[in-house]
Amino acid sequence: MIARHQLPAWSPLNLRALAAGIIPPPSSRALGRIERRIADEYRPRSLLLTRSGTIALALAMRASAPEGLRPRIGLPAWGCFDLMTAADAVDAEVVLYDLDPETLAPEQASFRGMLAREPHAAVVAHWFGVPVDLGPWAELARSAGALLVDDAAQAVGASLRGAPLGIGGDFGILSFGRGKGRPGGEGGALLAASPSAQAALQGVARALPPPTPCVAGPPSASPRRAIFLSLANNFNILAFRRKLWRLLPWTLK
Ligand SMILES: Cc1ncc(COP(=O)(O)O)c(C=O)c1O
Repeated sequence: MIARHQLPAWSPLNLRALAAGIIPPPSSRALGRIERRIADEYRPRSLLLTRSGTIALALAMRASAPEGLRPRIGLPAWGCFDLMTAADAVDAEVVLYDLDPETLAPEQASFRGMLAREPHAAVVAHWFGVPVDLGPWAELARSAGALLVDDAAQAVGASLRGAPLGIGGDFGILSFGRGKGRPGGEGGALLAASPSAQAALQGVARALPPPTPCVAGPPSASPRRAIFLSLANNFNILAFRRKLWRLLPWTLK
């Protein structure tokens, strides 16, 4: 048995954020601020705000393979379903690798084995916000000709040696969904951190339809619903959402 102290989820919402959820500022202003804030903190080569971390991940997978080719993506064999959802969305071929159960970082031999299958990209995540030093994995991926996706969806706001998590690979994934380090109800961002990722992202962005509210507009969830989901997550009562629904019918309307 491995004794591990799992970090408590911390998904802070202050009064100002709650107030902004009830009386939201104009969405164009808010999105501009979010974009500037991410650009200042992460200093990516380019960035794309998305409706969710899953969409950002799917775009990174699509962008890592040449147009017309089915993406082949290395994924951890243990993780949350969003990784497979993203792979499924872009019809990616998935090659799995194991995690080290002590650290939740990739297991070296298994990661190398996955790279031997010549994926276009490999995804490494910081599970529960516990930072993984991406340096060695990025180097291994690069020498195998694969891009590295730094999935920091569970680690937004965390840093390692002064550098924010999410910028340690070619692509970076952020999520602002319920229960995340910086909860916004929903939302995500795709960061391009290397010249090759930037070029690949530009190619995909050109192929995307013009922005719709999904990518560049206000979140579709009502502010009340977003606030409720974040609070529910903080208190671990998400499982009782349906019951609360009955108790507080006005909350989710
Ligand atoms: C590691 C990881 N990647 C991606 C995602 C997807 O983020 P979102 O919930 O914003 O779609 C999550 C969500 O929990 C996640 O934990």
